Order: sequence, then C-alpha cells, then structure tokens
Amino acid sequence: MTHPTVEWQGSLETGVVAMIDQTLLPGRLKILRCREVKQVWEALRTLRVRGAPAIGIAAAFGLVLAVRGSRARGVETFLSEVDRQAKYLAGARPTAVNLFWALDRMRKTARQHVSEPLPKLKAALLREAVTIQEEDLATSLRMAEHGFTLLRGVSTVLTHCNTGGLATARHGTALSIVYRSQELKRPLKVYATETRPLLQGARLTAWELLEAGIDVTLICDSAAASVMREGRVDCVIVGADRIAANGDTANKIGTYPLSVLAKEHGIPFYIVAPLSSFDPELESGEEIPIEERAGEEILRPFGKLIAPPNVKTYNPAFDVTPAKFITAIVTERGVLHPPYTRSIQRSFKDRGEA
Ligand code: MRU
Repeated sequence: MTHPTVEWQGSLETGVVAMIDQTLLPGRLKILRCREVKQVWEALRTLRVRGAPAIGIAAAFGLVLAVRGSRARGVETFLSEVDRQAKYLAGARPTAVNLFWALDRMRKTARQHVSEPLPKLKAALLREAVTIQEEDLATSLRMAEHGFTLLRGVSTVLTHCNTGGLATARHGTALSIVYRSQELKRPLKVYATETRPLLQGARLTAWELLEAGIDVTLICDSAAASVMREGRVDCVIVGADRIAANGDTANKIGTYPLSVLAKEHGIPFYIVAPLSSFDPELESGEEIPIEERAGEEILRPFGKLIAPPNVKTYNPAFDVTPAKFITAIVTERGVLHPPYTRSIQRSFKDRGEA
C-alpha cells in the first residue's frame, strides 16, 4: 500500500489525521484529512477506518485532535477534557476492544505527564499515539513470524473480512502471515469471502492482496462449505475484534459459521490477533458487546435497494466463535494453544499485567 492506513500529518498545532477512506475502495483511493475530532468519530462509525487495530490508532490520534486546542487553566480541567473526549470517541463502536485499549493508554499518558506544562503534555499525547501506531506495525511483523511457522506445509488459506494493512497500521493480523510467506518466496494462495453486508472481503481484502501480487480468489460467503468439502483450503485464518479470557473470539459476522465448518471438515481454524485485542476481564464471549448496525446495510447495500424496503432486518456486525472451535491463536508473543484460559493468562503474566 502506498499510503498508511491512518497517520498523523504535520505539527501538533496544525496537523491532521489522514486516513484512507475505506468506504470508497476499491473504486477510489482517497485520503481523508480530519481536522476535528468529530470527523474521526464519524470515520470510525461509518467504517471509513475500520479493523480493530486501525480503530485504536485512529481513536488515539482523534483524541489528540480533540484536546490540542484546549485552554484549560489547570491540569485537572485538562484531564477531565481528555476523559470526556475519550468517552466520546469510545462511543463510536462497541465491539473492537482496541478502541478502548488505545484510549485508556492515552488517558494514562496524560496522567503520567501532569507535572508538565500543557504544551508538553499535549506533545506527549501525540507521541503516545504515534507509539501505538509504531508498536502495531512491529506487532504485525511478530505475528507474521509466529504464524508463518505455524502454517508450515500449508499452501491455501481461507480468510474472512479484511485483516490486512487496511485493518492495522500496516501488514495486518491474519494477512500479515500471507505477506510474510510471499516475502519468503513460499507464497500462500488465498480464498477470500465477500463478507456481507459491507463486503470488506470483496472490496478490501481482494483489493489489497491483488495490489501485493498475491493469488486471491473471491467467493460468496455461502460458498465456504463447498470450498472446504472440495479440499481447496488447508486452513482458515481470521482476525479478532475481542478475545475473552477463555478464548471465545468476537470477529466479523460470519466467522463463527466458518469455525463450525472447519471443524466438520477437519481443517485447522486459526485466530491471529495482537494482545491489544484481548479482553481478559471478560470471562467468556457471552459478555462481549456485539455491535448491531442499521438494517439499511442489508436492505440497500451501497445505495441499491435489494429487498422489500419494509421487510424486518437484524444486522449484528460481529459474532462470537467459541474457543472449542479455535485450533490456536497467534499473537505477537507466540502461538497460544488450548486450554486458552491458561495460555491467555500466561501471556498477560509475561507482559506483567496479571
Ligand atoms: O467492521 P470492521 O470492518 O471493523 O470489522 C473488522 C473485522 O472484523 C476484522 O476481522 C477484525 O478487526 C480483526 S483484523 C484486524
């Protein structure tokens, strides 16, 4: 990709949050430049920027936009502005935990710099947002290494939604393994599901894999069972929006059925996600809030009415794959195996957080 998914351009005082407007892909590669926090909120809500890690990065930059002009007299006033704006941004979408994780990091950073003058405190916030972005990049590369080792002997994968550069700072989660395989001259072939209703697979995954010269075949979501039965794929690799303490994983709607199908066909089913997508506070997937989006997305995809306008709709944007269907979870810290309650806890202990 020639342009970063999302980045800060310019100085703290006059800079912008620049992001690829993913709603226009693959037709048009347009960079949206946000000068105000409400533009970032709108971009998050409408999926101009999407994918769990990218959502977190965009929100962190959005928070900088929100408070850079603050004239708060005292530090307490400034901190409460930070908290208020973080709460506003957190309301954009409910499922991807990276959003809350990134905003919490920003709030903590503000508190760590309370003794400094306001301009320095604001600069520290911008630095932290850039760090979140840079760490995500490094994290993708580490997941790619671990995932590549796990997928030794695999030639074709099936994936769902978009887990590539567009969903992260760069490289991706599940797709980072595909890019790494290509780099190492052991290219993987990819079956990409369309991912109804917003077609992240068709519009984004197909686009970015083709741009990278990767062999990708687009299928309807409903073709996954046949593709597996015909022996066309060796494993399924997907990302995650939130992983509970027991390994239950929320990801784009349509992931759960793929895990059931993979089990039935004896195909490994892998999740690839950074630790920032884990929510160890939640015991199981039942506690993960699932975003429900407007029925219009089903009825009138991309502006064209395809069903009786008065039909009832139900449009959950994510589903939860039970841990029992997940063969392994690839993180930047290595590959986690069942029982996940134990392996996840250990990962967080290693990171000094449990
Ligand atoms: O609604 P989206 O497009 O933000 O959903 C994205 C996904 O479900 C991805 O699979 C997920 O964020 C994990 S990969 C970065």
